[in-house]
Amino acid sequence: MQLLNNLTPAQFLADYWQKKPLLIRQAIPNFKGLLNPNELAGLACEDNVPARIIQQKKDQWTVKYGPFDEADFAKLPKRDWTLLVQNVNHYLPEAADLLALFSFIPHARLDDLMVSYAPAGSGIGAHVDSYDVFLLQGAGKRNWKISAQNDLNLVEGAPLKILQNFETEQEWTLQAGDMLYLPPQVAHWGVSASDDCMTYSIGFRAAKRQELTHEFLNYLQDHLEQDNVRADGLYADADLALQKHPAEICDNMVKKVSLMLQSLTWDTNNVADFLGQYLTEPKLDVVFTPAPKISKAEFTKRLAAKTLLLSLKSQLLFTHNGFYLNGEKLVVPAEIIEAIKHLADKRYLNITALQANIHTLCSDSLFEAYLAGYVCFKHG
Ligand code: SIN
Ligand code: CO
Repeated sequence: MQLLNNLTPAQFLADYWQKKPLLIRQAIPNFKGLLNPNELAGLACEDNVPARIIQQKKDQWTVKYGPFDEADFAKLPKRDWTLLVQNVNHYLPEAADLLALFSFIPHARLDDLMVSYAPAGSGIGAHVDSYDVFLLQGAGKRNWKISAQNDLNLVEGAPLKILQNFETEQEWTLQAGDMLYLPPQVAHWGVSASDDCMTYSIGFRAAKRQELTHEFLNYLQDHLEQDNVRADGLYADADLALQKHPAEICDNMVKKVSLMLQSLTWDTNNVADFLGQYLTEPKLDVVFTPAPKISKAEFTKRLAAKTLLLSLKSQLLFTHNGFYLNGEKLVVPAEIIEAIKHLADKRYLNITALQANIHTLCSDSLFEAYLAGYVCFKHG
Protein backbone atom coordinates (compact mmCIF):
# COMPACT_ATOMS: atom_id res chain seq x y z
CA MET A 1 0.00 0.00 0.00
CA GLN A 2 1.59 3.23 -1.24
CA LEU A 3 0.12 5.41 1.50
CA LEU A 4 2.21 3.67 4.15
CA ASN A 5 5.22 3.11 1.90
CA ASN A 6 6.45 -0.39 2.61
CA LEU A 7 4.32 -1.01 5.65
CA THR A 8 1.14 -3.04 5.54
CA PRO A 9 -1.80 -1.52 7.42
CA ALA A 10 -1.42 -4.34 10.00
CA GLN A 11 2.27 -3.46 10.52
CA PHE A 12 1.40 0.20 10.85
CA LEU A 13 -1.23 -0.58 13.48
CA ALA A 14 1.09 -2.89 15.38
CA ASP A 15 4.17 -0.67 15.39
CA TYR A 16 3.07 2.95 15.06
CA TRP A 17 -0.65 3.60 15.67
CA GLN A 18 -0.97 5.33 19.05
CA LYS A 19 2.67 4.46 19.71
CA LYS A 20 5.16 6.54 17.78
CA PRO A 21 5.45 9.08 14.98
CA LEU A 22 6.11 8.01 11.42
CA LEU A 23 7.30 10.11 8.52
CA ILE A 24 6.23 8.80 5.13
CA ARG A 25 7.82 10.39 2.11
CA GLN A 26 5.56 10.48 -0.92
CA ALA A 27 2.64 8.78 0.80
CA ILE A 28 0.54 10.14 -2.06
CA PRO A 29 2.87 10.83 -5.00
CA ASN A 30 1.98 13.99 -6.93
CA PHE A 31 -0.56 15.02 -4.31
CA LYS A 32 -1.11 18.72 -4.85
CA GLY A 33 -4.11 19.09 -2.63
CA LEU A 34 -7.84 19.22 -3.13
CA LEU A 35 -8.37 22.96 -3.20
CA ASN A 36 -6.37 26.17 -3.50
CA PRO A 37 -6.01 28.90 -0.85
CA ASN A 38 -8.80 30.98 -2.43
CA GLU A 39 -11.20 28.06 -2.41
CA LEU A 40 -10.29 27.35 1.20
CA ALA A 41 -10.94 30.99 2.08
CA GLY A 42 -14.27 30.70 0.24
CA LEU A 43 -15.26 27.75 2.43
CA ALA A 44 -14.26 29.73 5.51
CA CYS A 45 -16.79 32.40 4.48
CA GLU A 46 -19.70 29.96 4.57
CA ASP A 47 -22.06 29.50 7.50
CA ASN A 48 -21.59 26.40 9.64
CA VAL A 49 -18.08 25.72 8.37
CA PRO A 50 -15.80 25.78 11.43
CA ALA A 51 -12.93 28.08 10.48
CA ARG A 52 -10.29 29.98 12.41
CA ILE A 53 -7.62 32.51 11.59
CA ILE A 54 -4.72 32.34 13.99
CA GLN A 55 -2.40 35.30 13.95
CA GLN A 56 0.88 35.98 15.66
CA LYS A 57 2.24 39.46 16.32
CA LYS A 58 5.56 39.04 18.08
CA ASP A 59 4.57 37.01 21.16
CA GLN A 60 0.90 37.90 20.95
CA TRP A 61 -1.45 35.32 19.51
CA THR A 62 -5.01 36.00 18.39
CA VAL A 63 -7.73 33.64 17.17
CA LYS A 64 -10.69 34.78 15.10
CA TYR A 65 -13.58 32.50 14.29
CA GLY A 66 -15.49 32.33 11.00
CA PRO A 67 -17.59 32.74 9.03
CA PHE A 68 -15.27 35.32 7.50
CA ASP A 69 -15.74 37.73 4.65
CA GLU A 70 -13.45 39.16 1.98
CA ALA A 71 -12.62 42.16 4.14
CA ASP A 72 -11.24 39.85 6.88
CA PHE A 73 -8.81 38.36 4.41
CA ALA A 74 -7.92 41.71 2.83
CA LYS A 75 -6.87 42.98 6.29
CA LEU A 76 -4.37 40.20 6.87
CA PRO A 77 -0.65 40.99 6.78
CA LYS A 78 1.78 39.26 4.41
CA ARG A 79 2.74 36.61 6.96
CA ASP A 80 2.35 35.24 10.48
CA TRP A 81 -1.16 33.97 10.12
CA THR A 82 -2.82 30.62 9.42
CA LEU A 83 -6.27 29.82 8.16
CA LEU A 84 -7.64 26.53 9.52
CA VAL A 85 -10.84 25.03 8.16
CA GLN A 86 -12.38 21.93 9.71
CA ASN A 87 -14.90 19.42 8.36
CA VAL A 88 -13.63 19.96 4.81
CA ASN A 89 -14.76 16.39 4.09
CA HIS A 90 -18.34 17.62 4.54
CA TYR A 91 -18.00 19.85 1.50
CA LEU A 92 -15.58 18.30 -1.00
CA PRO A 93 -16.47 15.01 -2.68
CA GLU A 94 -12.74 14.51 -3.41
CA ALA A 95 -12.12 14.55 0.34
CA ALA A 96 -14.20 11.38 0.70
CA ASP A 97 -11.83 9.67 -1.76
CA LEU A 98 -8.85 10.90 0.24
CA LEU A 99 -10.34 9.66 3.53
CA ALA A 100 -11.11 6.31 1.93
CA LEU A 101 -7.33 5.74 1.76
CA PHE A 102 -7.37 5.76 5.56
CA SER A 103 -10.01 3.05 5.87
CA PHE A 104 -7.52 0.82 7.65
CA ILE A 105 -8.55 2.85 10.69
CA PRO A 106 -12.21 2.25 11.63
CA HIS A 107 -14.66 4.97 10.60
CA ALA A 108 -15.78 5.12 14.23
CA ARG A 109 -12.43 6.75 15.04
CA LEU A 110 -12.44 9.32 12.24
CA ASP A 111 -13.03 12.91 13.18
CA ASP A 112 -12.54 15.08 10.14
CA LEU A 113 -10.30 16.50 7.47
CA MET A 114 -8.91 19.86 8.45
CA VAL A 115 -7.08 21.96 5.89
CA SER A 116 -4.75 24.82 6.66
CA TYR A 117 -3.18 27.54 4.60
CA ALA A 118 -0.26 29.61 5.82
CA PRO A 119 2.12 32.01 4.07
CA ALA A 120 5.86 31.35 4.44
CA GLY A 121 7.22 31.53 7.97
CA SER A 122 3.79 31.12 9.62
CA GLY A 123 2.36 28.49 11.92
CA ILE A 124 0.13 27.96 14.91
CA GLY A 125 2.92 27.41 17.41
CA ALA A 126 4.20 24.33 19.23
CA HIS A 127 1.42 22.29 20.80
CA VAL A 128 0.09 18.84 21.54
CA ASP A 129 -3.22 17.46 20.27
CA SER A 130 -5.35 14.85 21.93
CA TYR A 131 -5.95 13.38 18.46
CA ASP A 132 -4.12 10.91 16.29
CA VAL A 133 -3.37 12.80 13.14
CA PHE A 134 -1.91 12.23 9.69
CA LEU A 135 -0.43 15.54 8.52
CA LEU A 136 -0.39 15.31 4.76
CA GLN A 137 1.35 18.06 2.86
CA GLY A 138 -0.60 19.49 -0.06
CA ALA A 139 0.87 22.30 -2.11
CA GLY A 140 4.04 23.97 -0.86
CA LYS A 141 6.35 22.98 1.95
CA ARG A 142 6.14 22.86 5.69
CA ASN A 143 8.85 22.37 8.24
CA TRP A 144 7.82 20.09 11.11
CA LYS A 145 9.58 19.73 14.42
CA ILE A 146 8.42 17.14 16.90
CA SER A 147 9.25 16.21 20.46
CA ALA A 148 8.18 13.57 22.97
CA GLN A 149 8.83 16.04 25.79
CA ASN A 150 7.05 15.81 29.11
CA ASP A 151 7.12 19.54 29.71
CA LEU A 152 3.62 20.55 28.65
CA ASN A 153 3.58 23.98 30.31
CA LEU A 154 1.63 26.43 28.22
CA VAL A 155 2.22 30.05 27.30
CA GLU A 156 0.11 31.97 29.79
CA GLY A 157 -2.71 34.13 28.59
CA ALA A 158 -2.58 32.92 24.97
CA PRO A 159 -5.98 32.19 23.38
CA LEU A 160 -4.71 28.84 22.17
CA LYS A 161 -2.58 26.18 23.78
CA ILE A 162 1.05 26.88 22.93
CA LEU A 163 3.92 25.13 24.63
CA GLN A 164 6.20 27.41 26.61
CA ASN A 165 9.33 25.36 26.05
CA PHE A 166 9.67 23.27 22.94
CA GLU A 167 12.68 21.01 22.66
CA THR A 168 13.12 19.82 19.09
CA GLU A 169 13.95 16.13 18.83
CA GLN A 170 13.33 15.52 15.14
CA GLU A 171 12.82 17.84 12.24
CA TRP A 172 11.80 17.42 8.60
CA THR A 173 10.62 19.52 5.70
CA LEU A 174 7.56 17.98 4.07
CA GLN A 175 6.87 18.47 0.38
CA ALA A 176 3.63 17.86 -1.47
CA GLY A 177 2.55 14.24 -0.89
CA ASP A 178 4.73 13.67 2.20
CA MET A 179 2.93 12.73 5.38
CA LEU A 180 3.69 12.69 9.08
CA TYR A 181 1.69 10.49 11.46
CA LEU A 182 1.55 11.67 15.07
CA PRO A 183 -0.03 9.84 17.99
CA PRO A 184 -1.78 11.98 20.60
CA GLN A 185 0.35 14.05 22.96
CA VAL A 186 3.45 14.24 20.75
CA ALA A 187 4.48 17.88 20.72
CA HIS A 188 4.71 19.33 17.23
CA TRP A 189 5.41 22.61 15.56
CA GLY A 190 4.77 23.25 11.90
CA VAL A 191 6.07 26.30 10.12
CA SER A 192 5.19 27.00 6.52
CA ALA A 193 8.25 27.03 4.27
CA SER A 194 6.59 28.49 1.17
CA ASP A 195 3.85 30.95 0.29
CA ASP A 196 1.54 28.24 -1.01
CA CYS A 197 1.71 25.92 2.02
CA MET A 198 -1.41 23.84 2.58
CA THR A 199 -1.55 21.03 5.10
CA TYR A 200 -4.25 18.36 5.26
CA SER A 201 -4.85 16.97 8.76
CA ILE A 202 -6.69 13.68 8.80
CA GLY A 203 -7.74 13.58 12.43
CA PHE A 204 -8.93 10.66 14.52
CA ARG A 205 -10.81 11.32 17.70
CA ALA A 206 -10.60 9.38 20.90
CA ALA A 207 -13.46 10.17 23.22
CA LYS A 208 -12.42 11.06 26.73
CA ARG A 209 -13.37 8.56 29.39
CA GLN A 210 -15.26 11.22 31.28
CA GLU A 211 -17.20 12.27 28.19
CA LEU A 212 -18.08 8.65 27.32
CA THR A 213 -19.29 8.01 30.85
CA HIS A 214 -21.34 11.19 30.89
CA GLU A 215 -22.91 10.40 27.51
CA PHE A 216 -23.59 6.78 28.46
CA LEU A 217 -25.34 7.85 31.65
CA ASN A 218 -27.46 10.19 29.54
CA TYR A 219 -28.22 7.33 27.19
CA LEU A 220 -29.19 5.07 30.08
CA GLN A 221 -31.50 7.74 31.43
CA ASP A 222 -33.31 7.93 28.09
CA HIS A 223 -33.45 4.19 27.63
CA LEU A 224 -34.28 2.92 31.09
CA GLU A 225 -37.99 3.56 30.77
CA GLN A 226 -38.29 2.51 27.18
CA ASP A 227 -36.28 -0.67 27.50
CA ASN A 228 -37.34 -1.20 31.06
CA VAL A 229 -33.76 -1.89 32.10
CA ARG A 230 -34.73 -0.86 35.61
CA ALA A 231 -37.09 -3.33 37.17
CA ASP A 232 -37.88 -1.21 40.19
CA GLY A 233 -41.14 0.09 41.50
CA LEU A 234 -41.83 2.83 43.99
CA TYR A 235 -39.69 3.31 47.02
CA ALA A 236 -41.37 1.24 49.74
CA ASP A 237 -40.82 1.29 53.49
CA ALA A 238 -43.50 -0.73 55.17
CA ASP A 239 -40.76 -1.64 57.64
CA LEU A 240 -40.28 2.00 58.67
CA ALA A 241 -39.07 2.18 62.25
CA LEU A 242 -39.62 5.16 64.50
CA GLN A 243 -36.65 7.53 64.18
CA LYS A 244 -35.15 9.58 66.95
CA HIS A 245 -34.27 12.37 64.47
CA PRO A 246 -36.92 12.98 61.84
CA ALA A 247 -34.27 14.94 59.88
CA GLU A 248 -31.96 11.95 59.59
CA ILE A 249 -31.61 10.00 56.34
CA CYS A 250 -31.50 6.66 58.05
CA ASP A 251 -29.19 3.79 57.09
CA ASN A 252 -32.18 1.70 56.15
CA MET A 253 -33.17 4.22 53.48
CA VAL A 254 -29.60 4.45 52.16
CA LYS A 255 -29.46 0.65 52.00
CA LYS A 256 -32.77 0.37 50.17
CA VAL A 257 -31.85 3.00 47.57
CA SER A 258 -28.43 1.51 47.13
CA LEU A 259 -29.99 -1.92 46.46
CA MET A 260 -32.38 -0.30 44.01
CA LEU A 261 -29.51 1.40 42.17
CA GLN A 262 -27.53 -1.81 42.08
CA SER A 263 -30.37 -3.43 40.18
CA LEU A 264 -29.67 -0.98 37.37
CA THR A 265 -27.85 -3.11 34.88
CA TRP A 266 -26.75 -2.94 31.28
CA ASP A 267 -25.00 -5.28 28.94
CA THR A 268 -22.80 -5.07 25.88
CA ASN A 269 -25.90 -4.73 23.68
CA ASN A 270 -26.77 -1.49 25.47
CA VAL A 271 -23.19 -0.29 25.11
CA ALA A 272 -23.13 -1.18 21.41
CA ASP A 273 -26.45 0.60 20.89
CA PHE A 274 -25.14 3.62 22.77
CA LEU A 275 -21.93 3.71 20.70
CA GLY A 276 -23.88 3.41 17.45
CA GLN A 277 -25.98 6.43 18.33
CA TYR A 278 -23.26 8.46 19.98
CA LEU A 279 -20.56 7.96 17.36
CA THR A 280 -22.83 8.76 14.43
CA GLU A 281 -24.48 11.77 16.05
CA PRO A 282 -23.73 14.75 13.78
CA LYS A 283 -21.57 17.48 15.28
CA LEU A 284 -23.46 20.59 16.39
CA ASP A 285 -22.47 22.63 13.35
CA VAL A 286 -23.69 20.03 10.85
CA VAL A 287 -26.84 20.95 8.97
CA PHE A 288 -28.32 18.60 6.38
CA THR A 289 -30.09 19.85 3.30
CA PRO A 290 -33.32 17.88 2.78
CA ALA A 291 -33.78 16.43 -0.71
CA PRO A 292 -36.51 17.80 -3.00
CA LYS A 293 -39.56 15.74 -2.14
CA ILE A 294 -40.20 12.68 -4.29
CA SER A 295 -42.53 9.73 -3.80
CA LYS A 296 -41.29 6.47 -2.36
CA ALA A 297 -42.08 4.75 -5.66
CA GLU A 298 -39.87 7.24 -7.47
CA PHE A 299 -37.10 6.67 -4.90
CA THR A 300 -37.31 2.90 -5.46
CA LYS A 301 -37.10 3.48 -9.22
CA ARG A 302 -33.99 5.61 -8.83
CA LEU A 303 -32.40 3.02 -6.53
CA ALA A 304 -32.81 0.51 -9.36
CA ALA A 305 -31.05 2.81 -11.81
CA LYS A 306 -28.43 4.85 -9.97
CA THR A 307 -25.61 4.62 -7.46
CA LEU A 308 -26.59 5.77 -3.99
CA LEU A 309 -24.08 7.76 -1.95
CA LEU A 310 -23.81 8.50 1.70
CA SER A 311 -24.02 12.30 1.91
CA LEU A 312 -20.66 13.86 2.72
CA LYS A 313 -21.82 14.89 6.19
CA SER A 314 -23.33 11.49 7.04
CA GLN A 315 -21.94 8.87 9.39
CA LEU A 316 -23.19 5.31 8.99
CA LEU A 317 -21.78 2.71 11.38
CA PHE A 318 -22.88 -0.75 12.36
CA THR A 319 -22.36 -3.16 15.17
CA HIS A 320 -23.33 -6.77 14.49
CA ASN A 321 -26.45 -6.21 12.47
CA GLY A 322 -27.55 -2.96 14.08
CA PHE A 323 -27.13 0.11 11.87
CA TYR A 324 -26.89 3.75 12.95
CA LEU A 325 -27.14 6.68 10.59
CA ASN A 326 -26.52 10.17 11.95
CA GLY A 327 -27.51 9.24 15.47
CA GLU A 328 -30.61 7.30 14.47
CA LYS A 329 -31.18 3.57 14.31
CA LEU A 330 -31.79 2.31 10.80
CA VAL A 331 -34.14 -0.62 10.30
CA VAL A 332 -32.38 -3.08 8.00
CA PRO A 333 -33.98 -6.41 7.13
CA ALA A 334 -31.71 -9.47 6.86
CA GLU A 335 -31.86 -9.62 3.04
CA ILE A 336 -30.09 -6.26 2.63
CA ILE A 337 -27.67 -6.34 5.54
CA GLU A 338 -24.69 -6.96 3.27
CA ALA A 339 -25.78 -4.17 0.92
CA ILE A 340 -26.09 -1.65 3.75
CA LYS A 341 -22.76 -2.80 5.21
CA HIS A 342 -21.26 -2.00 1.81
CA LEU A 343 -22.84 1.46 1.93
CA ALA A 344 -21.37 1.96 5.41
CA ASP A 345 -17.87 0.74 4.51
CA LYS A 346 -17.52 2.30 1.07
CA ARG A 347 -20.00 5.18 1.34
CA TYR A 348 -21.67 4.13 -1.91
CA LEU A 349 -24.09 1.42 -2.96
CA ASN A 350 -24.98 0.16 -6.37
CA ILE A 351 -27.82 -2.33 -6.37
CA THR A 352 -28.93 -1.73 -9.94
CA ALA A 353 -28.08 -5.31 -10.92
CA LEU A 354 -30.02 -6.81 -8.02
CA GLN A 355 -33.62 -7.97 -7.96
CA ALA A 356 -36.68 -5.77 -7.53
CA ASN A 357 -37.38 -7.04 -4.01
CA ILE A 358 -33.95 -5.78 -2.92
CA HIS A 359 -34.73 -2.37 -4.42
CA THR A 360 -37.97 -2.30 -2.44
CA LEU A 361 -36.31 -3.37 0.83
CA CYS A 362 -33.52 -0.80 0.44
CA SER A 363 -36.14 1.80 -0.37
CA ASP A 364 -38.06 0.92 2.81
CA SER A 365 -34.91 1.32 4.87
CA LEU A 366 -33.51 4.43 3.26
CA PHE A 367 -36.41 6.55 1.96
CA GLU A 368 -36.69 8.71 5.08
CA ALA A 369 -32.91 9.08 5.16
CA TYR A 370 -33.02 10.23 1.54
CA LEU A 371 -35.65 12.88 2.27
CA ALA A 372 -33.58 14.09 5.23
CA GLY A 373 -30.55 14.51 2.96
CA TYR A 374 -28.55 11.73 4.65
CA VAL A 375 -28.09 9.82 1.38
CA CYS A 376 -28.22 11.06 -2.18
CA PHE A 377 -27.78 9.81 -5.73
CA LYS A 378 -24.56 10.04 -7.68
CA HIS A 379 -24.89 12.49 -10.53
CA GLY A 380 -24.80 11.16 -14.06
C1 SIN B 1 -1.60 23.31 10.61
O1 SIN B 1 -2.01 22.69 9.64
O2 SIN B 1 -1.21 24.48 10.52
C2 SIN B 1 -1.52 22.74 11.97
C3 SIN B 1 -1.94 21.35 12.10
C4 SIN B 1 -1.55 20.84 13.47
O3 SIN B 1 -0.57 21.24 14.03
O4 SIN B 1 -2.26 20.00 14.05
CO1 CO C 1 -1.56 19.88 15.90
